[in-house]
Amino acid sequence: MKKKLIIYGASGHGKVAADIAKLNGYEDIIFYDDDQVKNKFGPFQVIHVFPEEKDYDLFIAIGDNKTRELISKRFDDIVTLIHPSAVIGEDVTLGNGVIVMANAVINPGTVIGDGTIINTCSSIDHDNIIGKYNHFSVASHSAGTVITGDRVFAGIGAVIVNNVSICDDVLIGAGGVVIDDIKEKGTYIGVPVKKK
Ligand SMILES: CC(C)(COP(=O)(O)OP(=O)(O)OC[C@H]1O[C@@H](n2cnc3c(N)ncnc32)[C@H](O)[C@@H]1OP(=O)(O)O)[C@@H](O)C(=O)NCCC(=O)NCCS
Repeated sequence: MKKKLIIYGASGHGKVAADIAKLNGYEDIIFYDDDQVKNKFGPFQVIHVFPEEKDYDLFIAIGDNKTRELISKRFDDIVTLIHPSAVIGEDVTLGNGVIVMANAVINPGTVIGDGTIINTCSSIDHDNIIGKYNHFSVASHSAGTVITGDRVFAGIGAVIVNNVSICDDVLIGAGGVVIDDIKEKGTYIGVPVKKK
């Protein structure tokens, strides 16, 4: 039987998820989107109502952390997608609905919470505890023993040094370097980062 997948969210992020899903053996991929005007997304069909027959897997491809969390909580089972070029240490734990993109590296002892995006060429080093619905953007890096809360966004090229803890709902701007714990939610930019 064909492996079937519905990707929730016909967006750029969804397009990358579809590519990875194909490499994970999904042969029949369709998108779900609230936007009634979208009926086609590249080569993919877009549906606006979920089929009654539950013969498909589901992946939530919403870039915004909070929205992805809200939507994910409506569903029991969300698949995890891993690009074949990603390097994942043996005792790494990945939650439901995680996506690990091309050339990302997750080193041993790390836990990645539900719905987190580990984007292209990013790396999460050993013994990190990464919360739920985080997004580590393209080429962002966390060193060893980093802890993040939920809905943390690390912008493109952001760096988090070792042994740092970051609370819930923190956005680290593109290129930001985190050298100390962040205990208050908000947006942090610069080298080293300061609250915006
Ligand atoms: C931090 C961020 C969210 C701020 O966005 P914003 O609120 O729209 O901010 P603005 O563009 O209005 O900039 C406000 C000020 O912050 C500065 N600033 C913005 N982003 C910055 C960054 N990443 N690093 C350093 N300074 C930054 C701007 O230069 C500007 O400075 P000024 O007031 O002296 O002119 C955004 O710039 C950013 O870095 N987003 C990350 C995007 C990303 O990585 N996407 C990856 C997807 S895979």
